[in-house]
Amino acid sequence: MTYDEIEGRIVRYADLRPCYNAFIDTRSPGSQAKENFTIIGPGVAENPDQFVHITEEHGFNIGGARQPPECVNSQHSHNTAEVFVVHTGDWRFDLGEHGDDAQIVLYPGDVISIPTKIFRGFTNVGTDTGFLWAVLGGDDPGRVLWAPQVFEMAKDYGLVLLENGLLADTAAGDEIPPDVRPMPVTSRQQVEALHRATPEEAQNLVVRDAPGDMAIIGPGAPFDWPHGFTMDRIELAGERYLSDGAAVLFVQSGTVQIAGAAGSSALHPGDTMTVPAAFGDYSLHSESAVVFKVRRSA
Ligand SMILES: [Fe+2]
Repeated sequence: MTYDEIEGRIVRYADLRPCYNAFIDTRSPGSQAKENFTIIGPGVAENPDQFVHITEEHGFNIGGARQPPECVNSQHSHNTAEVFVVHTGDWRFDLGEHGDDAQIVLYPGDVISIPTKIFRGFTNVGTDTGFLWAVLGGDDPGRVLWAPQVFEMAKDYGLVLLENGLLADTAAGDEIPPDVRPMPVTSRQQVEALHRATPEEAQNLVVRDAPGDMAIIGPGAPFDWPHGFTMDRIELAGERYLSDGAAVLFVQSGTVQIAGAAGSSALHPGDTMTVPAAFGDYSLHSESAVVFKVRRSA
């Protein structure tokens, strides 16, 4: 691989391109400052202008959310697994239609896996801007199901979600095409079809930051239900050789030198790299670093 080919598979934190109006809730009070990222696509954005850093299919999607203190991501559900790694900040995850079925606070290095068909929202409850790195299952993670009140709030600010899954910004002069209807507000029947988690269940959706290596998602791991991908935490103190094929790496902390026969590069906190199978065996080197590794599973 050439230098450019290797660099082209790295999405550096400093180069992340945010979308400020990826979703229907992004103009509602408390949510306007939310930045959404699609790192490995296509993601679930409702705005076709959302920039996708790497479009190649991986069997899962990688995204991110960056929010200042008190900024809210509204209650929604997915038909695929949704996993968050807390890179920076303190975050409260609220489960349920109104976010009051269960609440749990996560800190840097913690991981939460929210199963399909549960309403979830999250708020930065820390004192600094925070970044969540997210993995959604599948090549096509489908669309977001919003809690009914999210539609009500958005209407007041000119954003209308259409039946085709895209947003019309009527405040910015978008017209609703005559042949496309607005997305119907989520019905009581749809709400009642979702699972409601208890506070005890919510505790079991979190793996807390802890020193050392750990399998987080996969057979025998704390999250052993099907996700479509596996996740491992790797703690580096020196050199580590990996020979398990294609993987996506996320640097939680530290600076990591990745080197293979094809070349090498340095990765910094918040950087994502998709290592292709063609990269072959490789090594990771750092005096002190934590890396999360995601691989497609059968
Ligand atoms: Fe989500």
